[in-house]
Amino acid sequence: MLMRSILFIPGIRPNMIAKAPGIPADLFCLDLEDSVPPAEKATARQIVATHLDTLDVGRRGLAVRVNALTTGLLDEDLEAVVHPRLQAISLPKVESAEQVREVDARLALLEQARGLPPGQIKLLCWIEMAIAVINVYSIASACPRVAAVSFGAEDFAADLEVARTREGLEISYPRAVIAVAARAAGVAAIDTPEPDFKDLENLEVDARRARNLGYQGKFCIHPSQVEIVNRVFTPAEAEIEYARRVVAAYEEAERQGIGAVALDGKMIDAPVVLRARQLLQRAASIAALAG
Ligand code: COA
Ligand code: MG
Repeated sequence: MLMRSILFIPGIRPNMIAKAPGIPADLFCLDLEDSVPPAEKATARQIVATHLDTLDVGRRGLAVRVNALTTGLLDEDLEAVVHPRLQAISLPKVESAEQVREVDARLALLEQARGLPPGQIKLLCWIEMAIAVINVYSIASACPRVAAVSFGAEDFAADLEVARTREGLEISYPRAVIAVAARAAGVAAIDTPEPDFKDLENLEVDARRARNLGYQGKFCIHPSQVEIVNRVFTPAEAEIEYARRVVAAYEEAERQGIGAVALDGKMIDAPVVLRARQLLQRAASIAALAG
């Protein structure tokens, strides 16, 4: 599943949902949680269920963010949205691996009841509570259904009772540890959405920071953010070209029985060539999936 950009669309806004086909996000996440007021939850479920039937986003995917396990709203949410065209449930305010397995079991029952392939519906777990940051590796590896962990900076700052700043010192630890835990668990790491959708320069700087920490994608809240996020999380031509030269230089050195060689005044050895090959692999799979 390609997840460079995941665009949130409030489940209560059918006019916005209808715009999805024209927006180049890899995945669309229809929201039933914080963008839907309590009194509108039932209406939003109906709107989202209808669009799962009718919305045509081609090869891109559809996900739904449900309400947290502890809210008492989750069962009705899942009941409404488990559907052949649903690729993922985005699960907010996860606290522990036990909670993830609980949701996994409920999804398994619904998949079975509706004749869907077991495990079709992936889980994207939000790491946005202090306790989740502590438990992130066990959450990310709780069950095979977990495809990604997502960092939620706004709720994390609220849980810590700290202010959000543009420099982001308050989120540097969770952001880094989530990427490392995701990698160790073999799942993707998706970065927090940027609420300031007018400042696209800042978005690009921030998204690049996340990619450099090991994130594979970033949530978006406005269509204007999607192209920038896709670009940041796609290896650039210059990076691909350099990676090809690294691989070629290393293979030539290997033929000569040498394990380290210089390229443009820098040492190329095994980890450097490994990174170059990973980048080429990632570029190829993005090209294949993005079409
Ligand atoms: N998905 C699809 N379309 C969207 C969109 C979204 N997330 N956000 C905005 N649009 C559309 C608008 O409907 C508008 O369309 P129009 O020109 O045909 O009227 C166009 O893009 C431009 O929108 P704009 O006027 O700049 O913003 P807005 O004031 O309508 O909306 C927000 C701003 C923040 C309310 C809106 O972007 C939004 O609801 N984002 C998602 C919020 C969310 O899901 N939060 C929960 C997760 S953190
Ligand atoms: Mg949140």
